[in-house]
Amino acid sequence: MKKTLVVANWKMNPTTLRVAKTIFSDTKKSLSKLNGVEVVICPPSVYLSELKRLSSGNKISFGAQNCFNQEKGPWTGEISPVMLMTSGAKFIILGHSENRRGGDNDEIVNQKIKLALKSGLDVILCVGEKERDEDGHYFRFLKKQILDDLEGIGKNYLKNILIAYEPLWAIGVGAEKVITDKQLQEVTIFIKKVLVDKYNVKDFKDVRILYGGSVSYKIIDDLAETDVDGFLVGRDSLSQEKFSKLLKVIGSK
Ligand code: 13P
Repeated sequence: MKKTLVVANWKMNPTTLRVAKTIFSDTKKSLSKLNGVEVVICPPSVYLSELKRLSSGNKISFGAQNCFNQEKGPWTGEISPVMLMTSGAKFIILGHSENRRGGDNDEIVNQKIKLALKSGLDVILCVGEKERDEDGHYFRFLKKQILDDLEGIGKNYLKNILIAYEPLWAIGVGAEKVITDKQLQEVTIFIKKVLVDKYNVKDFKDVRILYGGSVSYKIIDDLAETDVDGFLVGRDSLSQEKFSKLLKVIGSK
């Protein structure tokens, strides 16, 4: 059976390693009785090695939340993908709207993706429109964003790339709206088609799409019935009660 991938994006939380360990062990417990779900925890990178040391079994792997676009050198404060990999990351989130807001344009995201793939990481590329218009211009925006970000990246890497659809209007405490299953299904098929066409692959199964934006146990029932391959969870991945409820619903599908 194909497992649903649930990626926990802890963002810049929690503020101590001690609490990070507690959240991690709670997540491990929640997962222990579940089949059909695989979890990737993306903690702040300073916690990666220590959490990796505590992990065992194959249901949890780790990811980083961003990286620099150079491998090494005189770049004060920056971290390269290969460093993240040697600290325990298997995945990396790139192009998150919070980093795009901080200056990561499509060209920089593209450079980071290339370097991350070369370093051996699987990339979770975040894309998403700021707002939706009645005429469907956001489809054009999404297609351009995906194609620009993946410019020059060959088909041999497709298996190492996941696209996370994260519309800005649905993310975080200030989210304007909640996505419906119908909206999610439509955009999932659209993104799969963009990739199938770009890479000339035969099957929609060869491309993997995640959804992120206020994902919670309260709305997951319907969203999990769509063709998305998994979810990218922010706030609710930090709460044992909420995350375990969410994993339970996904695991029961
Ligand atoms: P929330 O789940 O808190 O809306 O965050 C979504 C997100 O940005 C995940 O990457």
